Amino acid sequence: MSKQPIRAYSGIQPSGAPHLGNDLGAIRNYVALQENYESIYCIVDYHALTSVHDGEKLRRQTREMAAALIALGLDPNKCTLFVQSHRPEVQELAWILMTVTPVSWVERTPTYKEKKLQQADDINHGLLTYPILQAADILLPKASVVPVGKDQAAHLELSREIARSFNNKFGDTFPEPEAVFTTSPVVLGTDGEKKMSKSLGNTIDILGDPAVITKQVMGSVTDTKRPLKSDPGHPEACNVCQLHKLVSANYEELWQNERAALTGCADMKRLLAERLIAHYAPARERYNELLALPHEIDNILGDGAARLLPIVTETMREVKEKVGLA
Ligand code: TYM
Repeated sequence: MSKQPIRAYSGIQPSGAPHLGNDLGAIRNYVALQENYESIYCIVDYHALTSVHDGEKLRRQTREMAAALIALGLDPNKCTLFVQSHRPEVQELAWILMTVTPVSWVERTPTYKEKKLQQADDINHGLLTYPILQAADILLPKASVVPVGKDQAAHLELSREIARSFNNKFGDTFPEPEAVFTTSPVVLGTDGEKKMSKSLGNTIDILGDPAVITKQVMGSVTDTKRPLKSDPGHPEACNVCQLHKLVSANYEELWQNERAALTGCADMKRLLAERLIAHYAPARERYNELLALPHEIDNILGDGAARLLPIVTETMREVKEKVGLA
């Protein structure tokens, strides 16, 4: 069956192997979309430079992310997987887009405000222009469907505004990209409060060692309104029960047992760890195999960048002609 003539695009930072939030919030949609849409997925190493200032670490984490995405189901025969800096045309487009983006739009971006607090001693200029580079990522291949978690909604809205701003000045050029969410667009971390995120240290590392997964899950905050195991549980307010809803087919039965105090929080955590370890076992094995084959990963990424060349060349030709650079 031929694919629909709609292009999907998404980017992910090379923060090493992905966590449960990345997978449930975004990656499983990347995998689904590659079946029906022309799909392009990018490991955004230029973006990562805003927080990682260690060349060896960035190179290693870029390969780890590539191996992980393939292990979790991206098929290089069905989608294009590449590294952002291998198609530097994105920087040229980002500059042009900066000239149609008011400073106030980027200053009000929630992620910029968060980052200013998170890395107060490193508020570099890249953090401010970050969402314009993200818009360039999406607009360069003229993608119209963007699978992301909810934390990227503001960036997507800005990408739409930037597309509109360019189109208003220079004529219809870019589609306005739409975010596509999974059924779990915000996965909370093991603290049960904040979004799961590497920088907050509250992740469940799905491709990590089973002992690590067990430790992370067993250390999770559960039902804070249930001091005793004999008290009835509140699955709606317990993040571990919420995670069961996402990964356990029989979650309703589990929730019922919690409400009736037939099971306790530790039982729910033990079961969750077991299920996550079993579910991700094939991906973990493939991930470790791929990491031992760095040339294979590099070939896949090299092919991806090469495949994109005609697409990005055409966009840049059109854009440069419209703005007067050619
Ligand atoms: P990043 O690398 O932080 O996250 C990658 C993807 O995972 C999603 N995600 C989550 N979803 C649900 N719950 C969570 N706890 C959770 N944590 C992460 C993110 O929403 C994202 O979809 N700025 C982007 C990268 C980017 C990009 C792009 C995305 C650069 N250019 C172009 C789309 C299109 C980022 O830092 O994602």
